[in-house]
Amino acid sequence: MYVCLCVGATNQMVSDAVAAGASTSKEVAAMCGAGGDCGRCRCTVRGIIEATLAAAPTAPANGSLRHLALDITPVGSH
Ligand code: FES
Repeated sequence: MYVCLCVGATNQMVSDAVAAGASTSKEVAAMCGAGGDCGRCRCTVRGIIEATLAAAPTAPANGSLRHLALDITPVGSH
């Protein structure tokens, strides 16, 4: 669904920007353009940011990356 008619940004583009690290409407605008022109969509953009962050797994408060599971296969092993 289109969220921002000024730049033709969709809700998926906004969610992707949040998944890539954006957490404010300004950061989303910098990444995909949504909300960076007339601003009429910023309330919707903020709603998508909140929903995307609420649905994402939470990181520990100490910033540790130990919660991330890595699937690493050594090169040349079969
Ligand atoms: S509708 Fe999104 S900036 Fe104008």
